[in-house]
Amino acid sequence: MTGHVFVTRQIPAAGLDRVRDYCTKAGIPIQIWEERLPPPYTALTMLSAGAVGILTTLNDRIDAAFMDAAGGDLRVISQIAVGVDNIDVAAATARGIAVGHTPGVLTEATADLAFALLLAIARRLYEGTRYIEDGEWVTWEPTALLGADLSGATLGIIGFGRIGEAMAKRASGFDMHVIAQSRSLDANTAKKAGVEVVSLEQLLAESDFVSLHCPLTPETRHLINADTLAKMKPTARLINTTRGGTVDMNALYDALMNGTIAGAALDVTEPEPLPANHPILKLPNCIVVPHIGSATIRTRDRMATIAANNLIAALSGKPLLHQVNKI
Ligand code: DGY
Repeated sequence: MTGHVFVTRQIPAAGLDRVRDYCTKAGIPIQIWEERLPPPYTALTMLSAGAVGILTTLNDRIDAAFMDAAGGDLRVISQIAVGVDNIDVAAATARGIAVGHTPGVLTEATADLAFALLLAIARRLYEGTRYIEDGEWVTWEPTALLGADLSGATLGIIGFGRIGEAMAKRASGFDMHVIAQSRSLDANTAKKAGVEVVSLEQLLAESDFVSLHCPLTPETRHLINADTLAKMKPTARLINTTRGGTVDMNALYDALMNGTIAGAALDVTEPEPLPANHPILKLPNCIVVPHIGSATIRTRDRMATIAANNLIAALSGKPLLHQVNKI
């Protein structure tokens, strides 16, 4: 197939139907990867050869070799996600390929999940469930399963984009003190959000909860490692809803085992998926959920709609609603 559109996964009908309708009307062939698991790299590359547009997920490795194999007709890579760390954006720009993504619509859902994880790890919800399953709930105990208070506690937000800001809003409703570290956070925005801007060192040293909201880049890769974990309070808890690669999982495992920090709650891991026998899953002070930050019906419908609209706009020679690169 050439001159076609390749959709690399089943996405919600809100977006898929739009792409289908557009392609039918424009006489563009469409190919959809129907399987539950994402296409392996070789299949992805093969099925994209000669494509004019592809709609991708964060599972697809979209590198320069992929783009060369896809060929010179490829005009748009439209990703159904806000994060595009799986895409070599510079390589796309060099080839004149527009890269679209879906910011904004998943802010609230992702911040909700981050805050749910914060509450869950603070109040030891997962341990509580296991406690019952293990037959440990034999009486009400004055000293059992004691967790951490939120009111008056300090939340440190690393990366203060839309989701970081939404997290701060939630925290202020729980009377938490919020500090943040971000390269792009200006004093005005911080003041309006009721947030104190601090250095990374200060954030790590003072936070009772550290929540990661920075994109994964070469600079933020393993930002949380043995050194940075050692700078956190032994009572601190880490929340990650951005990308697994921001945390060195081996160092985190050691820190949770040794009591360097008190707990962690992760929506994202390295690798993904995390093998079911990964040792971190056995730790009582770690909660892991399978990358579900944006997984609400409304949010995924909106993401699918934007991804479809971005693809269609590019193929119609119009500006994308949300474009990552300038071409
Ligand atoms: C994103 O959009 O980058 C999320 O990780 C998936 O919703």
